[in-house]
Amino acid sequence: MNIKETLLKAKNEKYAIPQFNINNLEWAKYILEVCEEEKSPVFLGVSSGAAKYMGGFDVIVGMVNGLKKDLNITVPVMLHLDHATTFELCKDAVDAGFDSIMFDGSKGSYEDNIKTTNEVKNYLKGQLLEAEIGKIGGEEDGIANELYFTSVEEAEDFISKTNIDMLAPALGSVHGIYKGEPDIKLDIMKEISDKTNMPLVLHGGSGIPEEILKQAVQNGICKANFNTELQLGWHKAVLEFVENNKDVYDPRKVISSGEEGLKNVAREYIRILGSKGKA
Ligand code: G3H
Ligand code: ZN
Repeated sequence: MNIKETLLKAKNEKYAIPQFNINNLEWAKYILEVCEEEKSPVFLGVSSGAAKYMGGFDVIVGMVNGLKKDLNITVPVMLHLDHATTFELCKDAVDAGFDSIMFDGSKGSYEDNIKTTNEVKNYLKGQLLEAEIGKIGGEEDGIANELYFTSVEEAEDFISKTNIDMLAPALGSVHGIYKGEPDIKLDIMKEISDKTNMPLVLHGGSGIPEEILKQAVQNGICKANFNTELQLGWHKAVLEFVENNKDVYDPRKVISSGEEGLKNVAREYIRILGSKGKA
C-alpha cells in the first residue's frame, strides 16, 4: 500500500491515523516501538522548530530511516513536516526525503494560501499534502494564534482550487492546553466531510475528551495530531524519577525514565482513534 492508500483506508474504514510529534531520537524511537507493538500506522510529525532543534531535515530522515531498519518497524510510517509556513521549508523537507508535507498558509491571506499550496503541490514527488484554512488557536512553536473558524463554503472553495490530500479545518481545537472544555464544531466537520469527501485532519488533539475524539473520527477525521499530551506524560514520569534519584546523572537514565509515560499516552490515543491493528 502506498501512503495515499494508507490514508484512504483510514477514511473508508472510519478510523484515524495518529500523528505524534517528535522532538529527538528517544521520542521517535518510543513512538515507533509503540506503533509497532500496537500495529498502528503513524505520522511522525516534525515542526520547523523541532527540525531546527534536531539539526535539520537530513538528520531526521537519516535517524528515522535508521530506526525503522534497526528496530524492524513494519507498520506504515509517514514522516511528516508539520505547520511549514513557507514554500522553501516544504521544498527542503521534500528534497531530504519526507513522506508528507503540511503547508500552513493560514497566517497569510486566503489567496496567498491557495497560491503557495499549489506551488508546493507542483513541487511534490509523491508526498501527501495537507493544508490548513481558518486558524487553529493556541501556540505552535511558541507563537500564539487567534482561533478563526473554517466555514463549509470556504472549505469547498479551497479544495476546488487546490489539489490537496488532506485538509485541516479550524473547528475549535487549539494547540497546547485547553482553557475550559474544548468546543469542537462536529456538525460543521461532518458537513465539510460529506460535501467534499476530503480526508480531514484534527490539530490540537491533546486535551480533547475521548468521546469527542471518537465522534470527530466518525465525522471525517482521518488523521489526528498529538504533541502536548505526549510531552506531559513524559514530563510527569521524568519529574518523579528525578525527585527520587537526585544523584543519577546519566542522560540515558534520565531521558528514558519518561519512556513508559510517553508510550502510555500514545497507546491510549491509538485505542481511541481505532488505528490499533490497522497496519
Ligand atoms: O500539529 C500538531 C498538533 O496539532 C498537536 O497539538 O500539542 O495540542 O496536541 P497538541
Ligand atoms: Zn497542529
